[in-house]
Amino acid sequence: MDILAGRTVIVMGVANKNSIAWGCARAIMACGGQVVLTYQNERLRQSLLRFVAPDQPMVQCDVADEENIDAAFTTIRERYGAVHGLVHAIAYADKESLEGDVLQVSKAGYNLAQDISAYSLLAVTRSAVRLFPALRSVLTMTYFGSTHVIPNYNIMGVAKRRWRPMCAMWRRSWVRSTYGLTPFRRGP
Ligand SMILES: NC(=O)c1ccc[n+]([C@@H]2O[C@H](COP(=O)([O-])OP(=O)(O)OC[C@H]3O[C@@H](n4cnc5c(N)ncnc54)[C@H](O)[C@@H]3O)[C@@H](O)[C@H]2O)c1
Repeated sequence: MDILAGRTVIVMGVANKNSIAWGCARAIMACGGQVVLTYQNERLRQSLLRFVAPDQPMVQCDVADEENIDAAFTTIRERYGAVHGLVHAIAYADKESLEGDVLQVSKAGYNLAQDISAYSLLAVTRSAVRLFPALRSVLTMTYFGSTHVIPNYNIMGVAKRRWRPMCAMWRRSWVRSTYGLTPFRRGP
């Protein structure tokens, strides 16, 4: 089944074999597509080297740094050419912000979760739309905890909740364009 032959997809967020992003990457490759993985830092690169193919395209990208996003996507364009799709499977909150009493979440912890888990979707898509004219699809991940109170999910639920109006606004502004954004919910 080669329905993605000739297509290149950036997959962001593989940390290990259990990462949702790795499942996406394998599915894309099984459909004949080329996958370019991005990894946050050297520690994550070492983790990826344990299980990806030796010739797997990979580029470093920390989404907390918008200049790093532009630099990573510019490198991808130079090395691999046109990109047709993007998978954003990235989220982060510090342990203290996920556990215990939500009233104790610090401003720094709240902002970090929003920055990495919600804002980064806008940041990477803005950069990708600018650098990859052939981009047609962006896939991202949300969760049941965005609409229901789940113990130990705390502030991450707020970050995921933010995506709902964001995706709606996005669809409105892109309705006349050829792009698509798909928030995908895993689990219940
Ligand atoms: N695991 C679940 O049950 C579940 C359910 C629903 C939704 N999700 C969502 O799916 C997505 C992937 O989660 P996962 O379960 O595969 O976890 P994971 O820990 O395997 O993946 C999270 C990834 O985010 C990356 N990341 C964190 N900070 C980053 C930064 N500053 N720059 C670049 N990358 C950064 C990590 O390196 C990691 O690769 C997340 O958005 C998560 O909220 C997960």
